[in-house]
Amino acid sequence: MNADSIFATPITRRLNLKYPIFQAGMGFVAHAELASAVSNAGGLGCIGSGSMSARELSEQIQRCRDLTDRPFAVDILFAEVKADKNNPTVVRYASNVQKLIDITFEERIPVIVSGLGNPAGIVPQARKQGVVVMSLCGNVKQARRLEASGVDVIIAQGHEAGGHTGRIGTMTLVPQIVDAVRVPVLAAGGLADGRGLLAALALGAEGVWMGSRFVASIEAYAHSNYKNKIVEIDEEGTTITRCHSGKPCRLIRNKFTESWVGREAEIKPFPIQSVEYGFPLAEKARYEGKVEEGGMACGQSAGLINSIKPAGQIVRDVMVEAQAALEERFLAVRKSKAA
Ligand SMILES: Cc1cc2nc3c(=O)[nH]c(=O)nc-3n(C[C@H](O)[C@H](O)[C@H](O)COP(=O)(O)O)c2cc1C
Repeated sequence: MNADSIFATPITRRLNLKYPIFQAGMGFVAHAELASAVSNAGGLGCIGSGSMSARELSEQIQRCRDLTDRPFAVDILFAEVKADKNNPTVVRYASNVQKLIDITFEERIPVIVSGLGNPAGIVPQARKQGVVVMSLCGNVKQARRLEASGVDVIIAQGHEAGGHTGRIGTMTLVPQIVDAVRVPVLAAGGLADGRGLLAALALGAEGVWMGSRFVASIEAYAHSNYKNKIVEIDEEGTTITRCHSGKPCRLIRNKFTESWVGREAEIKPFPIQSVEYGFPLAEKARYEGKVEEGGMACGQSAGLINSIKPAGQIVRDVMVEAQAALEERFLAVRKSKAA
C-alpha cells in the first residue's frame, strides 16, 4: 500500500506536499533549519516570525531557501492597531508586523499563517498573489468569522496545545469546526504521533499542525535543556498561565510559572507582560538553557515525546505509525472478517 497517496488530502495536493504534516510556526523555536528539514521530508515547514525583526525574518527566509527547494510557510502574530472607528472594515497592523508581512509577500512565500489576531487585512493581497492564508483558532465562532474574512485554511487548535491556547479540547473542537466551515481544516493540539494523525483525519481534518513534537527535534532553535525537559515531563508537566504574555499560554511548569501562582492580579495585559517579563525570561530559558527562569511553551503531548529526533525522522515516523495504526485498527479487522 502506498502511504503517500492514502494520506493525501485536498490541501496536500493544493500545496504539492507528500504528507499531511504541517510544522507549527513557533516563535523563538522555528527557524530555517527546522522549517527546511520538515519541508525536505515531505511536510510543510514554517518559520515562526513571532520573536524576529524584519531583518531577521529576511535572513531566515534566505537561509531556508538555501536549505530546501520545497515550499515553506511563515507564521506571523497579527497584532492590530485599533481600527478606525469610522471605517471598521479597515484593519491596520502595528508597524513591525506590517514589515514582516511586506517581506513575506515580497519573498513570494506561498503560505502565510496567522498565529494571533486578525489576518483579514492581508487577504486581498494574498488573493492577488495566490498566497494561501491559514489561521489558528480555538472555537467555532472564531472559525466562522475567519472563513467570512477570506481565510483559506482554519487550524483548529485545542486546549492541549503548547503556547497560547483556548478552552476547548482538540477532540471536540476539530469536528465542530469541520462541520461549521467549508474551507479545509488542520487539527492542532496534543498531536504528536501517527495515531494522532489518523485520528485527526478521521475527525475530518486535512492534516495535522504539530508544535511540541518538533521542539524536541535536533533542528529546533532551542537549548538542549529545554528539549530534554520536554522528554522528561509527562502529560501533567505543563500549566496554563498568563504570566508569559498576559494571555493564557501553556508552558512547562517550573519555578517561573509557580512564582506567579497567587499573584495573577499583578499580571499586566498582553503584550505588556511579554515585553516586560515573558520574552526576556523566555530567552534565558529557551536559548540559555536556564529552564527554571522563564517560560517554555509545550503541550500535553509531552507525555508522548520520548526522544529528541531529527525533524525529517519525526515526519517519516509519524507516517509509518499512521500506516501501522490504520492497518492494525481497521484493515486487519476487515481482513479477519473476510477470512
Ligand atoms: C514553543 C512553541 C511556540 C509557539 N509559538 C507560536 C507562534 O509564535 N505562533 C503560532 O501561531 N503558534 C505558536 N505556537 C502554537 C503552535 O502553532 C501550535 O498550534 C501548537 O504547538 C499545537 O499544539 P502541540 O504543541 O500540542 O503540537 C507555539 C507552540 C509552541 C510549543
